[in-house]
Amino acid sequence: MKVELAENSGFCFGVRRAMETVRKESTKKKKVYTIGPLIHNKLAVRRLELRGIKALNSAQAKKGTVIIRTHGLPGKQVEELRKRGVRIIDATCPFVKKVQMIAKQFHNKGYHIVVVGDKNHPEVLGIVDSMESVTVVSGLKEAKALGLYERLVVVAQTTQSTGVFRSVVSELRRHAKELVVHNTICSATMERQKSATDLAGRVELMIVVGDMQSGNTKRLYELCRPIVKTVLIEQASEIRREWLVHQRIGVTAGASTPEWVVNAVLNRLSKKRAMFEKKLSDMRDKIDREIKRIFIREVEGKKDAFLKGAYKDAFEYVVGGGKRLRPILLISAYRAVGGRQDITIPALSVEMLHNSTLIHDDVMDEDTLRRGRMTIFKTVQQKYLNLNKETAYNGPLFSKKSARFSAAQAMCIGNILVSLGASCLGMADRKRQGEAMRIFFESYKTINEGQMRDLLSESRKSTEGDYLKTALMKTGHLFRASIEIGAVLGNASMKQRMMLSRFALSAAIAFQLQDDLLDIDEKSKGRVKGSDLLRGKKTLLVIKALELGMEKEKKAIRRALGNESASKREVEQAIEAIHTSGAVRYINSLVKSHFEESKSYLNAAKLNKTGFDFFNNFADYTLHRKS
Ligand code: F3S
Repeated sequence: MKVELAENSGFCFGVRRAMETVRKESTKKKKVYTIGPLIHNKLAVRRLELRGIKALNSAQAKKGTVIIRTHGLPGKQVEELRKRGVRIIDATCPFVKKVQMIAKQFHNKGYHIVVVGDKNHPEVLGIVDSMESVTVVSGLKEAKALGLYERLVVVAQTTQSTGVFRSVVSELRRHAKELVVHNTICSATMERQKSATDLAGRVELMIVVGDMQSGNTKRLYELCRPIVKTVLIEQASEIRREWLVHQRIGVTAGASTPEWVVNAVLNRLSKKRAMFEKKLSDMRDKIDREIKRIFIREVEGKKDAFLKGAYKDAFEYVVGGGKRLRPILLISAYRAVGGRQDITIPALSVEMLHNSTLIHDDVMDEDTLRRGRMTIFKTVQQKYLNLNKETAYNGPLFSKKSARFSAAQAMCIGNILVSLGASCLGMADRKRQGEAMRIFFESYKTINEGQMRDLLSESRKSTEGDYLKTALMKTGHLFRASIEIGAVLGNASMKQRMMLSRFALSAAIAFQLQDDLLDIDEKSKGRVKGSDLLRGKKTLLVIKALELGMEKEKKAIRRALGNESASKREVEQAIEAIHTSGAVRYINSLVKSHFEESKSYLNAAKLNKTGFDFFNNFADYTLHRKS
C-alpha cells in the first residue's frame, strides 16, 4: 500500500502565524484569550485550553490580552474591546486583511460589493462589517438571484473554492455594467485544493483530515468526492480497517488541522516512510564508521602535532553534521543496477569531495558557523589567535595575518579531503575505476566553476536562469556524479546511466529549491528561520519575491536581506512579504515540476525493484523533508 500526503496539507501560513503569536503570548504569564476558537479544530482548541488559553466572545472579554484570530473581527467589536482597555493582538491573516481592504476601498468609491462566501463565517462578517451596499452569495444559485447594478466588485472569502468563485463571476457579468473582479482566494487555499484534487486523480481512496466545522476542510472533501471515493475524518482513530485494502491512498488536511493530527493519520496508515528513514540512518551510521576509521589512520600516521590537530578538526567537521546523501546515493545506484559488493569506502569519495567544497565555500563566504559549529576557517583562526598576539579578525578577507593564515589552511584542508576522496575511490574495482575517477574530477571542476559564478552573482543582478545554472553546477553535479559513479561501478548500461543522470539533476534542483523554502518555513528543523535571508543569499525565492512583489513587499524584503542586525520583527515582515508576493507558490510549482520530471527519468532507468523503490522514496523524501 502506498500512502501519499498531498502537498500544502495542514496548517497554512496564516494559521501558523496565529499559533506562533499565541505561543509567544502564553509564555508571558498573563491571561490570554481568543475571540472565538482560534482555529476551527476542536483537538487543537482543546490543547490550547489545557494551556489556559480560553476562547471568549467579544462581549465577555473585559481584561487581559485578546488575540484576534486569523479570520479577523468586525471593526466595531475591535473598537469596543479597545474602549474596555483590553490589550489586543491582531493575528488576522494578511490575506484576510487584503480582502477587507479591497472591499472597503471599492465600497467607499460607491461600488456594490459581492462577497462569495459563507454568510455566517467570521471572516465574511469581518469583511462586510459596517457596509451598506453589500451582498454575500454562497454560489451560483444566489448569484443568479441578484439584480442589476451600475458598478459591482466581487471578492471571495479566502478559503472559497476556485470553481464556485469562477461560476459566480461569469454570472455577475450579466448583472453589472462595470464588473471589477478580485480573486482573493488565498494562494495557500488554491495550492491546497489543487494538490488535493491532483492527488485524488491518482489514488483509490482520498482521506481528508480536519474538523467537520472547518469550512476549508469541508470544501476539500467536496472537491475530491466527484473524483474518487473520499472520506472525511477528524482523527486517526476513525480510520476503518476496510479502507486499508486500497493500494494507493491519498491524504490531505485542512488549513486548521495540526501537524500532529496529520502525522498520527499517516503513521497509522503506513510505516513506510519511517522505514525508509531508518534505512537512511543505518546507511549513514555505516558510512560514519568508515569515515572515522580513515581519519584515525591519518591522525595516527602524523608526527607533527599541528597536522594531527588539523586532521582532527577536519574529522570533527565532516562527522559534525550532514545527511551523507551523496555516498548513500552512490551505493544505492550501484545496487540498483545489480552491484553486489560492499562499496562503502569508494562511496566516501563523494562525501569527502562534498565536505571539501563546503570548507572552501565557508572561506569564500567568510562564514563562521556551519551546522551549528565553527567552520574550519574560524577554528584555525581561533587557534592562531590563541598562539599569537594579533586581535580578532573583523574585516575583509586576507587583511590580517590570522585571516590569511586561516583561509589558506582551510583551503589546504579542503584540498586534502579531495585527495582522501580520490584515494577512497581508488579502492573500487580496477576495471571501472578510471571512468569513475574521471566523473569524480569532472564534477570537482564543475563545482569550482559554479562557485566562481556564485561569487560573481553577489555583485550583479541574477535571473532565474543564472540561479538555476549556478545551483546545478554547485549542487546538482555532485548529486549526479554520485549516482553516476555508483552506476558505473555497478556496470550499468549507457541508457541507465543517462536516465539516472537526468534523474539526479532534476531531483537536485528540487532539493535545492526545497532547501531555499525551508529557510522561511516554520516547521524546518535544525536551522534559524530566515538565516539565508539575513546573510544576503539571493535564492530564487528571494529573486522571485523581488520580481513579483508589490513595492511595500519589496521594501520589507530589502530591509532584511543581507542585514544581519535586522530585528526579529523585520525578518518576520520580510518572510510575510515573500509569502504574499506569490514567490512561495511559484517555487513550490517549480519544485513539483522538477520532482515529476525526476520521476519520469526514474521510470525510464529500468532499475531493479529495490533500487527503483529506493530512488522513488528518495524523491518523496526530498519533497517532504523538513531539515
Ligand atoms: Fe490561511 Fe490566511 Fe489563507 S489563514 S487559508 S493563509 S487566508
